[in-house]
Amino acid sequence: MGFSALLRPGTISEGWHGPLKISRLLSTRKRRRRQVKLAPAMAYSRIIGTGSYLPERVVTNRDLESKIDTTDEWIVSRTGIEARHVAADGEMTSDLAYQASLKAMESAGVGPDDIDLIIVATTTPDMIFPSTACLLQSKLGVRRGAAFDVQAVCTGFMYALSTANLYIASGAHKCALVVGAEVFSRLLDWNDRRTCVLFGDGAGAVVLKQSETPGILTSNLHADGSLSGILRVDGGISHGKIRGNPYLEMDGQAVYRTAVRALDDSAQEALTATGLTAAQLDWFVPHQANIRIINSIADKVGVPRERVVTTVARHGNTSAASVPLALDAAVRDQRIKRDQLVMLQGVGGGMTWGTILLRY
Ligand SMILES: CC(C)(COP(=O)(O)OP(=O)(O)OC[C@H]1O[C@@H](n2cnc3c(N)ncnc32)[C@H](O)[C@@H]1OP(=O)(O)O)[C@@H](O)C(=O)NCCC(=O)NCCS
Repeated sequence: MGFSALLRPGTISEGWHGPLKISRLLSTRKRRRRQVKLAPAMAYSRIIGTGSYLPERVVTNRDLESKIDTTDEWIVSRTGIEARHVAADGEMTSDLAYQASLKAMESAGVGPDDIDLIIVATTTPDMIFPSTACLLQSKLGVRRGAAFDVQAVCTGFMYALSTANLYIASGAHKCALVVGAEVFSRLLDWNDRRTCVLFGDGAGAVVLKQSETPGILTSNLHADGSLSGILRVDGGISHGKIRGNPYLEMDGQAVYRTAVRALDDSAQEALTATGLTAAQLDWFVPHQANIRIINSIADKVGVPRERVVTTVARHGNTSAASVPLALDAAVRDQRIKRDQLVMLQGVGGGMTWGTILLRY
């Protein structure tokens, strides 16, 4: 279920505890009533800055041709991918996240003292713990608030941004740094042509701030764990050893079919929740997995191709980083402008998927 209902005026004034709990508090604990402090009324959140970072090294399809049994023509015709960035040895997810965050904070005009919430979406954390968000907090010199990771694979940024919005809407936090960052290249078997050609590394970030006017209009998040086997890395660390397969496995056609159906449903859900039509959308920023999936969704939803932001050709699939990377690209080249309506979408392992509709 989406949270757009929370943003309707009628429910906003009911406050943090909900009407039932408040009335019970007031009637039975009169003496303590004066001491009860409610969190501020529901607020809105808005993106006030974006940033992104790509590792220096670029691996083209031609480079792959010399290593595995593939061709540039096969990769481009099936996926639209021409090249991807790959992190240097020793370059960690938190390093990519740090560079993207600096740019987002600079464009938002905020410093470390302004941030009171950091959420990092990643499937490739630097280590098992502490979270990449805590490592990023330290690198940025942020000294307060909460910091945690979310793991929803390529839908991670949707989950992270929705979560940050709810924290801000509740009044619990005021200024969030929301990051999608991945070194997916380290989950790939570079001899497996069915998977290694598809992914890349990178990071994207946004600063989300409390606002008097709505920025994020609606969000819907979904998961179907019964599909966990069609896209996964089932390996893990146990008793000091790697258990299972540490490389990505995928049933490409099952993922393709699931993604198209799920993303179409999710987009319709977001439009219905806001009363908007596809014709009113200024921009569609989809997950950058495959140009054929992107075009198929755009056609089904009814968004003209010229309003779809695509970076898949140059970035490949950067998992949780893909949407914030594409968003930042379109903000920086001034396609996306203030007050325009933008639809973001993610889909990935789990399977998970979701849509966020926002006024930039
Ligand atoms: C992965 C994908 C591009 C494969 O395309 P496809 O048309 O389904 O291809 P298939 O897997 O059926 O393979 C067809 C043939 O191409 C071959 N092939 C696979 N990868 C290849 C490559 N990189 N280069 C050359 N040939 C390749 C296969 O081995 C197979 O050969 P065979 O018929 O001799 O066995 C496609 O299924 C897809 O895009 N799926 C969604 C993946 C995705 O987006 N995942 C991330 C979601 S977050």
